[in-house]
Order: sequence, then structure tokens, then C-alpha cells
Amino acid sequence: MSRLTDIIAAHVADGTLHPDPVQEAALPEFERIADALRRPVKRGLFRKAPEPIRGLYLWGGVGRGKSMLMDLFVESLADIPTRRVHFHAFMQEIHAGLHAARRAGHEDALEPVAESVTGDIRLLALDEMQITDITDAMIVGRLFQKLLDAGIVIVTTSNRVPDDLYKDGLNRQLFLPFIELIKTRMVVHELASPTDYRQNRLQGSPVYFTPIGPEARAAIDSLWHDLGGDASEPLTLQVNKRDLVIPRFVNGVARASFYDLCGAMLGPSDYLALADAVRVLILEDIPRLSRQNFNEAKRFVTLIDALYEARVRLIASAAAEPEMLYVEGEGTFEFERTASRLREMQSQDWPG
Ligand SMILES: Nc1ncnc2c1ncn2[C@@H]1O[C@H](COP(=O)(O)OP(=O)(O)OP(=O)(O)O)[C@@H](O)[C@H]1O
Ligand SMILES: [Mg+2]
Repeated sequence: MSRLTDIIAAHVADGTLHPDPVQEAALPEFERIADALRRPVKRGLFRKAPEPIRGLYLWGGVGRGKSMLMDLFVESLADIPTRRVHFHAFMQEIHAGLHAARRAGHEDALEPVAESVTGDIRLLALDEMQITDITDAMIVGRLFQKLLDAGIVIVTTSNRVPDDLYKDGLNRQLFLPFIELIKTRMVVHELASPTDYRQNRLQGSPVYFTPIGPEARAAIDSLWHDLGGDASEPLTLQVNKRDLVIPRFVNGVARASFYDLCGAMLGPSDYLALADAVRVLILEDIPRLSRQNFNEAKRFVTLIDALYEARVRLIASAAAEPEMLYVEGEGTFEFERTASRLREMQSQDWPG
């Protein structure tokens, strides 16, 4: 059993983490939760129910270290039953559970689903909470209430202050109680570090590798390693009731090949969902494009547009420089914009 504060101090001492006072200022909130979880529960007929432990809603800009802190926190709680899951994946599980419960004829489908989540865990760590989907927005309030009622402590990371969750969403007034629930049952803490460490890790490194080959592969492997790729898992996104599986994903960084993403029958909504869910996409083995692979080329254009609009950072290996990827046949004109975007996305200050 070790404390998060000590784990961080050890990483700072061995040089794997930079000392960051803003991150350090968040540690007492984690320690408060760890201490409370470790306190023995006193039971007795006349004792009042223990005060519920307030969770933590850690928010701030990208790359500030929210997921890093949460992951190390979960690691420090090895003696406590904990579950850490990406928010997207978690909600997908909930929707699948609701579907099954409804089919089985449960009156309140959320009841068995919440029970199956709570199981015997004491802490639920949800990474990258983001509410854009109305079906999520309409159930999270009741879901969280049930989890909290079961005594589960929730820790979550997010890029938005609670008041901005599901901003401008449909039927937002029905969502407002969830925001209140967050504010009362969780401590809202901003991680206002000036440093985007993810950007820092990529600083000075080329992000577009050509030609395709062992050298490009090795360079990308090394960036992937720096970005935490060794701990990656598949990420499943639900798009129009279908599953879109991104083979490798870790802390906002996804890695896939051109054929994974542009060789399959994917469309704009898939690419938008992907761009929405990741901060960095590593896209390997972009071939030369031409009439022979016109459909793949068209999908590639759509993919780059989605990534560009969502200001996703792109790391790629390709058969040629952007301007030389698509030089003959139908579609070359449209590809000029894509080439220009690919160029811009390589610049050090992208995405600004
Ligand atoms: N103090 C630090 N020193 C060095 N590297 C750090 C530090 N804090 C975080 N990092 C690294 O920076 C990268 C981004 O951190 P992390 O994924 O935790 O950011 P985040 O706040 O969760 O971002 P997002 O909002 O995009 O999810 C990770 O590779 C992480 O290990
Ligand atoms: Mg994160």
C-alpha cells in the first residue's frame, strides 16, 4: 500500500515526471479519498450511517495530467476494489445492459444495470467524461445517483467545468440535476497547469514519416511508447448502433493503420465519433492514392477533415509527402485541401 503523493514523488525523483505544483495541489483530494476508503467501517445498531465520501471531479485542459494522476491513484489503491474505465466504454456497457434488461422485462431497467456495475467495487474511476449524446445525458443523473446510493465513490476526469457539460444539448434542463449531483457529491477541482505535457512529449519530434518502412515504424513505435502505448487497449465507439473498434487506445491517443480506418466501410459519422474521442491519432501506412483505391482515398479525405475540425493531433507514416500522395485521376483537386491540412497538422504549433 503506497500513497499517491509518494508514488508521484518517486516518479519526479527518477525523472519520469516533471515536478508540477499544480498537479501537487490536487494530491490532497486524492489522499482524502484514499484515507476515507481505508478507514474501517464501524458498525453498530445505534450508529448513524457514515458520512458518504465525496468523490472528485478533476477537470482542465488537455494534456495536463488528469488521467496520469487518476491512473496512479488507482494503482495506489491496490488494496481496495476499484474499477477504472474510459467513460465512453462505460456508457456503452450501460446501454448494452439497459437493452438486455428491457428485453428481460425489467420495469426499471437501470436498477439491475447499476447493481451489476457496483458489484463489490468501492471506487469507480471514469476517465474523460464527456456528454454529447442525448441518450447518455438522459440517464447519467439516475445512474450516478444509484451508484452513489450504493456507497460507491466516483472519481472522474473531464475537460469541462461541470456547468458546461452537455452544453447546448437537447433537453438540457432535464440534465441539470446531474450537474447539481456532481457539485454536491464530488469535489470539483480544476487542474489549471500551464503545461500541456502531451504536446511537450511531441515537441521537436517529426510527426509525419515517409516513406513507409522499418525506420518509420521504429520512429512511431518510440513515440507510441512515450505516449504510454504499452498500456493500450481497444476502444469501442458506438456509432449509429454499430460498434466501431479502434484497435489500440490509451489516454486519448489512438493507433490504427490506414486500412483499419479507410479500408473498411466507414463513413463521416464514424470519423466524427473517432475525432471526438481522441486527442492524438497515429495513422500508419498511408499508401499512394489513385483511381485504384478511390474509395479509400475518399474516406481518407473525410477522415482528415474530421480530425482537422476537431483539432486532433495526427502522427502518420505515408508512402509520400502530402502533396505527392494523390497526383493523378479524379479527386486530385479535392485532395489539395487535404494535403494542405496534412501539412498544417505537422506544424509544431498545431493545434494551437
Ligand atoms: N508532470 C508530468 N511530467 C511529465 N509528463 C507528464 C506529467 N503529467 C502528465 N504527463 C504526461 O503527459 C501526457 C498527457 O497526460 P494525461 O494523459 O494525464 O493528460 P490529461 O489531462 O488526461 O489530458 P486529456 O484532457 O487530453 O485527457 C501523458 O503521457 C502523461 O504521462
Ligand atoms: Mg485524459
